[in-house]
Amino acid sequence: MTEKPLEQMGLRDLRAVARQRMPAEAWHHFNGAAETRATFHRNPRAFHKYLFRQRVYHDITDPDISIELFGQKLPIPAATAPVGSFSLISEAAEREVAEGAARAGAMVFVSQAAKFDPRGWREASKGPLVFMAYMNRGKEEVSEYAKMSEDLGFAAVGITMDTVRPVKIGDEVPLSTKDGKPRKGHSASPKDIEWMKKQVSLPVVIKGIMGADDARTAVNAGADALVVSNHGGRILDFNRAALEALPEVLDAVSGKVPVILDSGVRSGGDIVKALALGAKAVLVGRPVAWGVGAFGARGVERVYAILNEEMKRAMCMTGVASVGEINKTILILDD
Ligand SMILES: Cc1cc2nc3c(=O)[nH]c(=O)nc-3n(C[C@H](O)[C@H](O)[C@H](O)COP(=O)(O)O)c2cc1C
Repeated sequence: MTEKPLEQMGLRDLRAVARQRMPAEAWHHFNGAAETRATFHRNPRAFHKYLFRQRVYHDITDPDISIELFGQKLPIPAATAPVGSFSLISEAAEREVAEGAARAGAMVFVSQAAKFDPRGWREASKGPLVFMAYMNRGKEEVSEYAKMSEDLGFAAVGITMDTVRPVKIGDEVPLSTKDGKPRKGHSASPKDIEWMKKQVSLPVVIKGIMGADDARTAVNAGADALVVSNHGGRILDFNRAALEALPEVLDAVSGKVPVILDSGVRSGGDIVKALALGAKAVLVGRPVAWGVGAFGARGVERVYAILNEEMKRAMCMTGVASVGEINKTILILDD
């Protein structure tokens, strides 16, 4: 079968090509989720429960999907999620993710578990970047990388705080991609947020919040933004979907900080739904891996073009001209 041209491919096509082209070990790692995969499957299903309310009598033809986040104007409210193991896909994958996202103008959240340090990401990307730390790397390295990120013009820094237990693929805890050592969990403390606030003067983002108590604790400790995330279903089996936890978190922070969402975003329509429910922006993990696994930097750029087109389609068909106009009235809960 001849392959479609890249500019005609959707995310499902990219996933199919990536599955063929990615090393089997990388596919298994990226597609993997904890234990029975219940959380992994619940994430996209939570989006499917919302339907759009079609509205066509308006003259909106090219909606504005840009937003402002951490003082940066972004052409699309979707960023690449921090992923420590792009390098399993290929030697060039981290650089290609950086390049492809930068061409789309999309922000990249970079993981401390990646092979590149913040300098490596900056060299590979002219686009907006956010550094995401793991406290189990030790305060010395976290502080060094956070300060390096600030010097390099990153938009924000943050901490991923949901790896109290390490990621699991089925019943196995995989070895660290970075150093091949066994992964360990790390307790989370609001003191680490206070500490991070003293290292840099950038906004501090806290990722892995799934409920009201944690949201309040993080904001009281100084968090400037939260990421509602269940780590793509890779840590706690039978967790709620991230989208299901979003309303509770929004309620708890009552507009004090922007709330970003990830886990299960698979289309531009999903982004519109997350925004309609109150998220400021979304992160995408596995779809970016499909893009880079299938076609390198061009594939990543294509992922963002697909999300852009699908967002605009959903907005035109529900009658909203800009992100600021998206609200719950465009959704119907299909219960
Ligand atoms: C292979 C892989 C590696 C990941 N590594 C990290 C990481 O180093 N730091 C982090 O905060 N999240 C990590 N995540 C979680 C993502 O940031 C994000 O929360 C998740 O992928 C979102 O779900 P999605 O893949 O359904 O879009 C990883 C996810 C995957 C699939």
